[in-house]
Amino acid sequence: MTATASADQARVLIFDTTLRDGEQSPGATMTHEEKLEIAALLDEMGVDVIEAGFPIASEGDFAAVSEIAKNARNSVICGLARASFTDIDRAWEAVKHAPRARIHTFIGTSPLHRDITRLTQDEMIDKIHATVTRARNHCEDVQWSPMDATRTERDYLCRVVETAIKAGATTINIPDTVGYTAPRESAELIRMLLERVPGADRVIFATHCHNDLGMATANSLAAVEAGARQIECTINGLGERAGNTALEEVVMALKVRNDIMPYRTGIDTTKIMNLSRVVAQVSGFPVQFNKAVVGKNAFLHESGIHQDGVLKNVETFEIMKPEDIGLTANNIAMGKHSGRAALRTKLADLGFQTSDNQLNDVFVRFKALADRKKEIFDEDLVALVTETANEAADEAIQIRRLRIVCGTEGQSAELTLAIRGEEKSVEATGDGPVDAAFNAVKALFPHQARLKLYQVSAITAGTDAQATVSVRLEEDGKIVTGQAADTDTMLASAKAYVNALNNLIVRRQKTKPEEEVRAVS
Ligand code: KIV
Ligand code: ZN
Repeated sequence: MTATASADQARVLIFDTTLRDGEQSPGATMTHEEKLEIAALLDEMGVDVIEAGFPIASEGDFAAVSEIAKNARNSVICGLARASFTDIDRAWEAVKHAPRARIHTFIGTSPLHRDITRLTQDEMIDKIHATVTRARNHCEDVQWSPMDATRTERDYLCRVVETAIKAGATTINIPDTVGYTAPRESAELIRMLLERVPGADRVIFATHCHNDLGMATANSLAAVEAGARQIECTINGLGERAGNTALEEVVMALKVRNDIMPYRTGIDTTKIMNLSRVVAQVSGFPVQFNKAVVGKNAFLHESGIHQDGVLKNVETFEIMKPEDIGLTANNIAMGKHSGRAALRTKLADLGFQTSDNQLNDVFVRFKALADRKKEIFDEDLVALVTETANEAADEAIQIRRLRIVCGTEGQSAELTLAIRGEEKSVEATGDGPVDAAFNAVKALFPHQARLKLYQVSAITAGTDAQATVSVRLEEDGKIVTGQAADTDTMLASAKAYVNALNNLIVRRQKTKPEEEVRAVS
């Protein structure tokens, strides 16, 4: 069973890039508040470095990185910058508020990337020296990455890394940008750099793997065994294409197999499950059921032989304890007779600290749900808390009444919305009940936003299960998401759509001044 890491074991730093590489994943855009919430949870979980964003990318990114930097308590806050003085200066402006700040600058060093930047090998060396020096003039903690390192000629890779170290980089990150490497090669690369590059012993080597061939976790761990001391990863493996190395996988692998991988991290693993849920919810990327560590089925035993074995001795089919990742050991069903105190305890077990007011709101919804559903499971409660947080009382659009007709005779929706306090009603038809409901919303609140995602999943088993619905909308290149849960799938759908529109209204108000700033600069 899980071995325990000891203080004399080599420490592996965990660098989380959920808010930068993860958020870059198409459609995973997060709001400012969502980024702050995730950063606070990462900090609390013991992540060593949080890559909070790419400050030059937009005013929104800059604002999020700055505020995360100001709120940071334990983690180093890092901002990404291309190999340009403007990018680097902007990254510094954003991260400088953090008690401990880092600038991460990079350039593509493989032949394919050198072609794009039209730089000769020597010109690129000069650029690396100049940009790392610029970053070092701002900050003592500078990370440098040769993007597409795994497809860069080995001799040239040694030259660029040596240049960055000479210019003052303190962490050298080796990205497998397109998920091309394999474990043996990943280890050999780190070993070669440590052996051949002068000054390599003065810096920390990091591994940054993408998961295109499903080997990101294995490649990261192989790099650690070869001497890398920082793993770059994201919660749930969120990231472009097939994603990045999943934080929960590498951290739990190092914990469970500490006997053969004797390294320690500073992560409080009991916070993993809550973070996984929050990231899945705000990104709109649900976690696949059979995902390692955090998938819904990761601790479920269905086959008779497995169930029998687990009942006799849990270690027969479980290599880690659900509690280790913050899953409550006992998924006790709550029902309509459960009281406020039981609910508060249960929510605390699930990682939610609620104020009295929040508890009151959740309790009202809990009672309403308990009237419709026999047993309320942990997943139902998580959905209730999330929905309560999503639905601010002062929302511009609120659903007052929805009646859906569907079946062989056609589909229509009668809807009443309160829009800034004024009630309006309409009847609409559509290709199916959801389409009819969405058409009704659009008729009452006309807008140009395009529907990018509509996703429904059942939270638990049973025909009385709640449906969670995610809706993603795009307007002028900006993306917002909406979420809702209800035992009535149509109502959940309409609520999620309205939630997305309310978020869009908030975003419109926030981006107005930003557009003005851009126009004058
Ligand atoms: O995958 C990659 O190469 C990156 C760099 C910016 C480090 O994310
Ligand atoms: Zn990456």
